[in-house]
Amino acid sequence: MKHKKEGRNRRVKSALRPSRNKSEKKLLTLWDQASRWYDSLVGSQGTDFQKDIIMPGVFRMLEVSKKDRVLDLACGQGVFSRYLSKKGMNVEGLDSSAELLKYARTRSGSTVSYNVGDATDEKKFKENTFDGIACLMAIQNIENIDLVFKSAYHWLKPGKCFVVVMTHPCFRIPRQSHWGWDEEKKLEYRRVDHYMTETNVPILTPPFADSKSFTLTYHRPIQSYMSALVESGLYVDAVEEWVSNKNSLPGKRSKAENRARKEIPLFLALRARLIAK
Ligand SMILES: C[S@@+](CC[C@H](N)C(=O)[O-])C[C@H]1O[C@@H](n2cnc3c(N)ncnc32)[C@H](O)[C@@H]1O
Repeated sequence: MKHKKEGRNRRVKSALRPSRNKSEKKLLTLWDQASRWYDSLVGSQGTDFQKDIIMPGVFRMLEVSKKDRVLDLACGQGVFSRYLSKKGMNVEGLDSSAELLKYARTRSGSTVSYNVGDATDEKKFKENTFDGIACLMAIQNIENIDLVFKSAYHWLKPGKCFVVVMTHPCFRIPRQSHWGWDEEKKLEYRRVDHYMTETNVPILTPPFADSKSFTLTYHRPIQSYMSALVESGLYVDAVEEWVSNKNSLPGKRSKAENRARKEIPLFLALRARLIAK
């Protein structure tokens, strides 16, 4: 087991490549290398799912008010940071990709303060700094979730919430879950080939990046997230599962497709509260 994990770490570290400008001697993160690709998907406003489902859902679960200090953890181009800022919160963004933060800074002006840094580095902010912390669609891209949750515990004020939303670990497992069609029952179903074993899966990021460019998605069963949250000292006090809001165009299978979309969630949202330290 130890051997397996060390091998995985080696692969991750070797994926940090020196920047093309050698004089900078800067290491690019996987997400720096994938930044143009990721920005082509998300842009300045976010995808439809971010706009319609994820951001309103996380905002509701966070329970923050105007002027509250809120951290957008692993904020990428700052789509959610700007969403919160427009609602009157004082927002800070943290991300390990300097390249994605360039997009964030250009698009947000001075309304949001962005920091380059690692979510696992609890020294990045002082204890009891934030009235809310959100981590959108990024926890499955981070290897050490125990340290991320410990950081959240350290940075949150007592009584306040950490909300994390991810692609649903039961049904959206890269390369291990697929849609299928049951001809007899005329049903669309989700096939899951692998769930309990933790794995990391490279996701290639064409067309802008070269063929060796990829990001990593860490698949973990729900018990890994719950255990790590409990271990950090936070109390999980809300769990939500969000389905797609899309509909198929009229056709032979559209009724079955729409039914499957409503039954099989795309996203899992967990809220953990800091009761006391
Ligand atoms: C799929 S993107 C999500 C970005 C943004 N939250 C959104 O919803 O568009 C994953 C993000 O996690 C960031 N990330 C990955 N590992 C990180 C770490 N250890 N610390 C901070 N950010 C990290 C990446 O740089 C990237 O911006």
